[in-house]
Amino acid sequence: MKALLAVLLIALLPALSFAEERGADLESVDIDVSNKAALQDGAGTFVNYCMGCHSARFQRYERVADDLGIPHDLMLEKLVFTGAKIGDHMTIGMQPADAKNWFGAAPPDLTLVARVRGTDWLYGYLRSFYEDPTRPWGVNNRIYPNVGMPNVLEGLQGRQRLGCKEVQRVEDKKTHTDAILSHEACDQLVIIPDTGTLTEAQFNEKVKNLVTFLAYSANPNTLQHRRIGTYVLLYLAVLFILAWLLKREFWKDVH
Ligand code: HEC
Repeated sequence: MKALLAVLLIALLPALSFAEERGADLESVDIDVSNKAALQDGAGTFVNYCMGCHSARFQRYERVADDLGIPHDLMLEKLVFTGAKIGDHMTIGMQPADAKNWFGAAPPDLTLVARVRGTDWLYGYLRSFYEDPTRPWGVNNRIYPNVGMPNVLEGLQGRQRLGCKEVQRVEDKKTHTDAILSHEACDQLVIIPDTGTLTEAQFNEKVKNLVTFLAYSANPNTLQHRRIGTYVLLYLAVLFILAWLLKREFWKDVH
């Protein structure tokens, strides 16, 4: 029994350490990689706002078009800006050495970043740039302090700074009833009104779609796996019925 418990505990360890690593102030985001509309919007944001500096070199335009249900001619017209062909990898012209000179760090390839960082981290990171005049690009990041990346989505989100604002906290530790306490807290991310083209909710949706695309990109077979998984389960269900009928037939005369 003790051995069993020990084995169970050891099996649980990775889960525990993972929970630890996520960090307290990462908001969790519900990503659905089967949502084609979200994926298409995310792909649009990715090629328009990210591919100036980041590649997705393990991914091909054609694969993205097929998986996301975008006709090839539309894909080439709307989402391929580098003169690439439909079968090409999603690479960029920027040389890593130049990039390192300009930004202090080369922008990493983003094909697999969702696996490395996780979707909650990405969702938090892209919404956490704030004004900081001491940094080369005038911005810093809450989730990734002193990052070398400029705030490329600022035009959409608006300028953000650290300040005081009303925050709501849900208290349910002892009573298990949801009591929402609201109080003024400082050192919070505050968007300066009317500096971006999207509202906060629209911007969050935009970033969520972008993260959905990155999640798909890190594991493009997920969609296929799910479909095959459904068939396998259906097959097993049918097989189970047949096996059960067969068993009944065999045991009919045995008493
Ligand atoms: C102007 C160039 C530029 C653009 C455009 C840009 N980035 Fe970056 N990005 C960088 C640089 C440079 C770094 C490396 C920063 C560092 O390590 O300090 C970086 C780092 C990152 C990282 C952290 C990767 C890691 O694991 O360390 C992520 C995630 C990221 N970028 C996502 C994006 C997304 C998504 C977009 C599009 C919305 C985007 N970037 C657009 C320059 C850019």
